[in-house]
Formats: sequence, C-alpha cells, structure tokens
Amino acid sequence: MSERAAIILAAGQGTRMKSSLPKVLHPVGGQAMVDWSIQLAKRVGCERIVTVVSANSEQLTHHVEGALGKGSTAVQDPPLGTGHAVRAAEQALDGFEGDVIVLYGDTPLIPSTAVEALFQALESGTGVGVLGFHVKDPGAYGRLVTGANGELEAIVEAKDASPDELRIDLCNSGVMACRSGRLFRLLSKVTNDNKKGEYYLTDIVGLAREDGASCKVVTCNEADVMGVNSRVELATAEAAFQARRREELLISGVTMTAPETVFLSHDTIIENDVVIEPNVVFGPGVHVRSGALIRAFSHLEGSIVDEGAQIGPYARLRPGARIGEGARIGNFVEVKKTKVGKGAKANHLAYLGDGDVGANANLGAGTIFCNYDGFFKYQTRIGEGAFVGSNSALVAPVTIGKGAYVGSGSVVTQDVSDDALALARGQQVEKAGWASTFRAQMTEKKKTSQT
Ligand code: UD1
Ligand code: CA
Repeated sequence: MSERAAIILAAGQGTRMKSSLPKVLHPVGGQAMVDWSIQLAKRVGCERIVTVVSANSEQLTHHVEGALGKGSTAVQDPPLGTGHAVRAAEQALDGFEGDVIVLYGDTPLIPSTAVEALFQALESGTGVGVLGFHVKDPGAYGRLVTGANGELEAIVEAKDASPDELRIDLCNSGVMACRSGRLFRLLSKVTNDNKKGEYYLTDIVGLAREDGASCKVVTCNEADVMGVNSRVELATAEAAFQARRREELLISGVTMTAPETVFLSHDTIIENDVVIEPNVVFGPGVHVRSGALIRAFSHLEGSIVDEGAQIGPYARLRPGARIGEGARIGNFVEVKKTKVGKGAKANHLAYLGDGDVGANANLGAGTIFCNYDGFFKYQTRIGEGAFVGSNSALVAPVTIGKGAYVGSGSVVTQDVSDDALALARGQQVEKAGWASTFRAQMTEKKKTSQT
C-alpha cells in the first residue's frame, strides 16, 4: 500500500456563519468540524495531514497545530479557488510521493469507507478518484460528466455548464484522490479561465484524461457529504449526525424508548443492553457499559458508567465521574471527579465532587462534599459500607472510615474512624409541658391587649 496524506481545505471565509469563530471550528456532535476531517484522515491511515488556512486565521492555525504540531497548516493568501488552495499545501508535503486525499474542513460526515474506496481506486491504477453523489436538485454543485462506460470524463462547475450538463444529477462532493506527483503536476496546468475566475481543483479530471489517465467516481449519499455554510446547515448536519449515531447504537443493541430525544457526542460509547430513557444528553467523553440504565433527563459528560449502574432520573455526571458496577445515582445528584464504588448509592439531592466513595456506601439525601474553599479543591473519602445520614456537609479534606455512620445534619470537619458514629450537630433538648404553658400565657396576653 502506498503512503497516504490528506489536504484539508479550510481557507474559505465562512461569512454566512455570521460568527467570530472560524467556520470549521464550529462543532458537530461536540467536535469541531475540522477535527472530523482530521480524524477521518487519521482513520484511513494518512501519515501526513495539511490543513490549508487563510491569512489572519491565528485561531484556526493554533487549533490545528495544537492537534497535529507545527507545520501542519499551509497558508493560502489570497484565496483564488480550490485548485489554488491545494497547491498551497505542496510545500508542506515536500518529499511525499504517495496518495493524497483532498477533504474540506466544512464537510464533517464523510464515511471512511468512501475515502478508503477512493484510495483503493488509486491502488488499482485510477488517475483521479472523485467522491460523487446523486441529488434531486443539483443546484450549484459541480456536475460529474461520465462516459458510456461510467468513466469520469470531466467535472463542470454549474456556472460554466451547458443546459445539458446542468441536467446531470451526479454531483461533485469535492473529495478527490490522486497520487501526489500527478496532482501537483496537473494543478500547475490549471488556469482561471472560467466564469468565476478561479483556479478549479476540478479541472484536474479533464487534464488527467488528456494525459491518458483514467478517472473514476465513487458514490455515497448526499447526507454523507453535506457541507456547512450557515447555522441552518450546521443544525442540519448536527441532526444528520444524531440520526446516524442513534441508529448505529440501536442496531448495536442499545434500547432507547425515544431515540429522537437522546443527544450523543462524536465519541459517545454505549455498550449493548444499555437502556436509555427519553431526554438524555451525552456530552463528550462518555462510556456506558453493558446493562446500565440511564433514566430520563440526565446529563452526562466525561464519565464512565459501569455494568448495571443506574443513573437518574435528573442526574448530572460531570467530567471525572466514574460510577461503579450496580451503583445508583438518583435524582438531582451531581457527581464530578469522583469514583463511586460498586453498589454504592446516592439516590437523592447530593453533590459529590473530588471524592472517592467506597463500595456499598450509602449517601443520604442532601449529602454535600464541601470540596472548595474559594482557592483550592480538596478530597472527600468515604469508606466501604459507610452510611452518611441525610443533610450532612462533609468539609474536605475529610475521610469517613469503613462502615462508619454519620448522623443526619452533621457538619463533618474531622476524619471519622472505621465503624464509629460521628455526630456533629446541635444537641436536642426537651422542656416538658413548655408548649401548653406558652399557649396559655400568650392567649391571656392577647385578651388583655384587646380590651
Ligand atoms: C466546490 C467544487 C464543486 C463541488 C462543491 C461541493 C470546485 C471548483 N468546485 O464548489 O464542484 O460540487 O465544492 O461542495 O472545486 N476553499 C479554499 N480556498 C479557496 C476556495 C475554497 O480553501 O480559494 C475551500 C473552502 O473553505 C471550502 C472548500 O474549499 O472548504 C470548497 O470551497 P467552495 O467555495 O465552497 O467551493 P464551491 O464553489 O462550493
Ligand atoms: Ca461550497
């Protein structure tokens, strides 16, 4: 197999987003669009990945170089078309002689199978491979002109197309594969002699054929190659991602009673036999293991939920929550950077932050880990099988021993030994008959004040 590289085009202005954030940094499924392209390139084995950016795009350059290192971006200034943009990456790919895939930074949902098929076409001798799709209303897309044998003959931009060509419903997605040497050789011959006055990448198809090379179309669904130019299209791409991922999870053995109300991230992992009730949101970094139950209206991010655990309804798992096998996190419980042991329970109204809860411990309603003094965060440790009574404030750093009890309403500021009972609350006093004496006195007082 030849070596592989990717060129990701992202030098467009993205003005229709009406945003101070560069277009390709807007997220789909919780991941910046440009990162979808980068991840795709990595998944198909690209060793070199160059992102083409415009002048004055520090934020984007910083983002990409943060992920792929210095030299992973190339500047196109000014932007003179897609062919010109690919040429801007030539220097960054100096010395590379393998196969190149061109991707767009604003087209996040391309399946890796389609890109793999394009690389395979190059391996079997195709000169240029193009990812195309059939569409009812081809609008402004470039049209793929094919010959009788299905071979790709040319790509014609809508603005330059004849009426006959405009009727073609097979369109160019923009994704294209070509061996590096041929790509840059052909691009050096591309002119801007067209309606838009741009250097079209698409012209390399016609030029390749003049050279005697064959060109091929690989097809995919329209939704797979949907580009994002506006917030409306961003929302459409998000919906397409959600629909696709929900279906994959259902097929893989996850139950969702109302899948259209469950929101997933690009990296959400949910194992089989997990049940997800309606209205659940998964932020990035969640792994739910087999047999867990995620009840309605819960919000999870950066968390691991082990086998058979139950979360919610109305629970919030924040980054660093690790819920052990069979543990239960109930309504209005928030967990952050805390490991909850096997079989432990916090069923109602609690905050568990920066802690470690031992197996089978029971945290009553209103248990609060007081983890922060306004400057630093501190740890709360709960021993195995400990029982914390309702409405207890555990002031960290603090350790509750194994099997210990904490009386309800305690403010615990000192460690509690194994198997001890800690009481840290006002003492109850009783005054016999006080209430009836009080009532009699007050009734008399009211009578005299009225006369
Ligand atoms: C391009 C294709 C068209 C295809 C369509 C699919 C060409 C000539 N046309 O058209 O056949 O159907 O995409 O969406 O290739 N970009 C740069 N620098 C530039 C110009 C563009 O980096 O100078 C980037 C943009 O940021 C974008 C991508 O290239 O990511 C496509 O550019 P765009 O202007 O949207 O191309 P279209 O005219 O839509
Ligand atoms: Ca476009």
